Amino acid sequence: MNRTAVLAGVGSCLPPKAVSNDELAVRLDTSDEWIRSRTGIGQRYFAAQGTATSDLAVGAGAKALKCSGVSAVDAVLVATTTPDRPCPATAPTVASRLGMTGTAAYDVSAVCTGFVYGLATAAGLISAEVADRVLVIGAETFSTLLNPEDRSTSVIFGDGAGAVVLRSGDPEEPGALGPFDLGSDGEGEELITVPAGGSRQRLSGVEPKAGEQYFAMSGKEVFRHAVQRMTGSAQTVLARAGWRAQDVDHLVSHQANRRITGHVADQVGIPRARCVNNIAAVGNTAAASIPLALDHAHADGTLRPAQRILLTAFGGGLTWGSAVLTWPQLDRV
Ligand code: COA
Repeated sequence: MNRTAVLAGVGSCLPPKAVSNDELAVRLDTSDEWIRSRTGIGQRYFAAQGTATSDLAVGAGAKALKCSGVSAVDAVLVATTTPDRPCPATAPTVASRLGMTGTAAYDVSAVCTGFVYGLATAAGLISAEVADRVLVIGAETFSTLLNPEDRSTSVIFGDGAGAVVLRSGDPEEPGALGPFDLGSDGEGEELITVPAGGSRQRLSGVEPKAGEQYFAMSGKEVFRHAVQRMTGSAQTVLARAGWRAQDVDHLVSHQANRRITGHVADQVGIPRARCVNNIAAVGNTAAASIPLALDHAHADGTLRPAQRILLTAFGGGLTWGSAVLTWPQLDRV
């Protein structure tokens, strides 16, 4: 038998405080109408003082474990752009707080593509017989990177976490994951960046300029790359899987911007009605976005057993990645 990673549980966690577009418009020169029409976002969640990424990761991880019916796994992967600290990784503390001291645990860093990279890594651990079960979490407190004066980024991103449990299984059973497509283009590193705080800036001999500790993005160019890369990657993974676009029941793309998702669906040939969208409720939560969308669509009954699901993501790096799976029978917890 080919050992394949099979989806066994899903969960998510949002901080309690939802922030509406109107609330942002009090301090930024923007409006609910602009944000909704340009991005599809109606609100996002910002973590409260005293919260860290690991808190949201533990919340999502605990729910995914409960959904899967297991209390321990062989590896915990946390995909994040906003680790609790620059060093060490966030995954070991998340594993310990979930009662798994001694378990392999490490972070995956690929910005908004991080969760798909994490899934591929976990699937590899399972097929190589390094692990039988892996918890993959996407978790962000992206609000900590936002320049409060930059309206073009402050309105887009939000905080949250989503998680899945993968177990070893059979390629033919519902929940089987793969094939994958992963890629990167480092020539685009300036398009999505936090300029200060790393070795490049620290060893430059130049003090960072005001605002360089914050996230910066070339919105228009990122929009174009996101559509192009997610479309290409989705088409590649469909060809690898032997699926046609019309075979896809749901496209779960990184929730970057509702217009981006629509263009990707059009270009791949998937009706827009088959796109899972939760960006109106949570904004762009970077590495947390796909598992949050999966959990929300599972909870509201959109994703049903045996349906064919296409995941595709794009993020800083530049990075991109896609995967396919069939949806399994899962408890709702
Ligand atoms: N409210 C009101 N106006 C805003 C605004 C806001 N929040 N943000 C930008 N604007 C203004 C700009 O200043 C510009 O004004 P100008 O024409 O007077 O110069 C105008 O709106 C158009 O700006 P532009 O950047 O061209 O808008 P856009 O249509 O490209 O939309 C984004 C901006 C950021 C929403 C869009 O580029 C985008 O979604 N990019 C991808 C972002 C993303 O998904 N990133 C994550 C990928 S992983």
